[in-house]
Amino acid sequence: MKDKIDNLLSEIETIEIKSKEHLEEFRLKWLAKKGLVTALFDDFKTLANEERKEVGRHLNDLKNKAQEKYNHLKEKFEEIADTSSPDIDLTKPAEPIAFGSRHPISIVRNQIVEIFSRIGFTIKENREIEDDWHNFSALNLPEDHPARDMQDTFFVKGQNENSNYVLRTHTSSVQIRVMENSKPPIRSIFPGRVYRKENISARAHCFFHQVEGLYVDENVSFADLKQTLLYFAQEMFGEKTKIRLRPSYFPFTEPSAEVDITCFICGGKGCAICKQSGWVEILGCGMVHPKVLENCKIDSKKYTGFAFGMGIERIAMLKYQINDIRLFYENDVRFLNQFKSA
Ligand code: DAH
Repeated sequence: MKDKIDNLLSEIETIEIKSKEHLEEFRLKWLAKKGLVTALFDDFKTLANEERKEVGRHLNDLKNKAQEKYNHLKEKFEEIADTSSPDIDLTKPAEPIAFGSRHPISIVRNQIVEIFSRIGFTIKENREIEDDWHNFSALNLPEDHPARDMQDTFFVKGQNENSNYVLRTHTSSVQIRVMENSKPPIRSIFPGRVYRKENISARAHCFFHQVEGLYVDENVSFADLKQTLLYFAQEMFGEKTKIRLRPSYFPFTEPSAEVDITCFICGGKGCAICKQSGWVEILGCGMVHPKVLENCKIDSKKYTGFAFGMGIERIAMLKYQINDIRLFYENDVRFLNQFKSA
């Protein structure tokens, strides 16, 4: 019996197992209840005592070898199954990572912020749900002022009847918050989202983005305003750009102006973008009204200031020649992908 076991031992070592199916055959033949090893143990019981010791050792050896071989191969086949399922080919190159692109509104906002920060303007942001004081009254728009109709307003229901909250209609509200909370010199820009009750069309939307600018100090003049805006226009639209200031009206500035730039498409000759005029409007501005300074407890005899406000969508539409404001909010990747290199 000992020889028989030894033969089997060397047989085990030579058996080649190439698949899971082979391994199962191996298990059935050697290790199962009706397998060879169990049968040998049955025979073993019939041996005389003196033989048992030695044969027992060999028999245990055989059993362990068979079990070890089985365990080892089982683990190996499982590992292979994990990594080499038919639809994974590890030699293939990795899928390219698809990069997104910045939204054109963010691109233009960042450019505006960057241009003004180069000449010493800091950036501040503030709330979008604003009270009546900061959005209107403090900006020299008292309750019955007809200019309130210039901007159709979304009102927000407050906790009680006396609370007058609105979705801010312009970022000029941030001027007030900043002037209330800091002393001149103040030189900051305030980018952010604003809301108006407008019918949505190619040219108007119920929300959009603005950048407000404010400079308050001793001796700030209209000439400072003009020079600052010329610098901005040339940085944004090219060094050949000229600006033109037209008298206008805003309750919070006096005097007030609207600023046009020479059309950067046709260089001023006249085209579809500038409606043949050679000029396109980009922003509103003026000298901060003394009443507005006083509303914020800033001495209007000592300090003067200028302010301006521009729509980011408007600048972006001009710069990229986009003719429908709704494109900014639809998130159509065919539109957004065009700004990858911008
Ligand atoms: N708040 C104005 C608007 O939304 C824009 C504006 C005009 C802001 C003149 C200013 C300014 O600071 O001086 O239409």
